Amino acid sequence: MTTSPLQPTSPVRVRDVAFVRFQAPDLDAMEQFLLAFGMQRAARDEHTLYMRGTDDEGFVHVTHLGDTARFIGVAFEADSLADLHTLTEHHGFTPVAELAGPGGGSVVHATDPNGHRVEVVAGRDSVGRLPSPAPAPRNAAGAPTRVGAPVRLDAGTSHVKRLGHCVLEVIDFRASEAWYKERLGLVTSDEIALDEHTSIGAFLRCDQGDRFVDHHTLFLIGAGRAGFNHAAFEVADFDDLMRGNTHLTNAGYTHQWGIGRHILGSQIYDYWLDPWGHMVEHWTDGDLFNDQTPPHTASLGELLGSQWGPIHGGPPA
Ligand SMILES: [Fe+2]
Repeated sequence: MTTSPLQPTSPVRVRDVAFVRFQAPDLDAMEQFLLAFGMQRAARDEHTLYMRGTDDEGFVHVTHLGDTARFIGVAFEADSLADLHTLTEHHGFTPVAELAGPGGGSVVHATDPNGHRVEVVAGRDSVGRLPSPAPAPRNAAGAPTRVGAPVRLDAGTSHVKRLGHCVLEVIDFRASEAWYKERLGLVTSDEIALDEHTSIGAFLRCDQGDRFVDHHTLFLIGAGRAGFNHAAFEVADFDDLMRGNTHLTNAGYTHQWGIGRHILGSQIYDYWLDPWGHMVEHWTDGDLFNDQTPPHTASLGELLGSQWGPIHGGPPA
């Protein structure tokens, strides 16, 4: 079996995922859910809802009003306007246009082999950070760092910091992998192999040289069909994730899977459904890799297993 090369062929190397875009028939219901999930409103008019995290990007989740609920696509952040022109001139992306929404910026887009809209943005302005819980000291056995002070947490939502990754179901894993690697410069962290000759998916991360980045920014799973699996949002820390679980439970939203710690990526996860069944994940404490981390081949068991937590009843990581 040939594991995909670590080094991409693309001159464009996106630095992160930026936002996910949906259509839904009720912006009130979407906003109510996303507020309970721990996002905050960035902007809204009668047609579009922009929601943000505590980081300084203008938005991480967009909903357009429409007759049906559906996933539209995912956006990635490039370093420069020159990168967008490269995608236009060499990879069939649309001409550079203004990005609508808080923070502005520029955008190009294309359609991947599965019909998913893929946007690449650059030049967004900071809209300022929002308050988020400070990193908490811990009293690990034998190594306490929180002495003389109690833990006192306010009830409430999690604090969504940023979008961390998106998981897409694809018709042909290898064709989709090549499409994304050639255009966005993504590299493999873990490839999922059924046997010596057959791989069904891969966790892909951004190539940022020696800078440490999330274990995965995009996970492609060869499902024989095109689909949205989930989008995952980083929260402040473990207490913040647990606080959000309590809040969403009390609010009556639908829990999907968790709480547990994944094997591949190592993050602590908690999966929920929006009002139309789109899966969204809270996560914290994930792996950070750089160009010194070689690609790895993993099993389906490692994909679906947890280091602790309930057995798999829902999505891949
Ligand atoms: Fe995930």
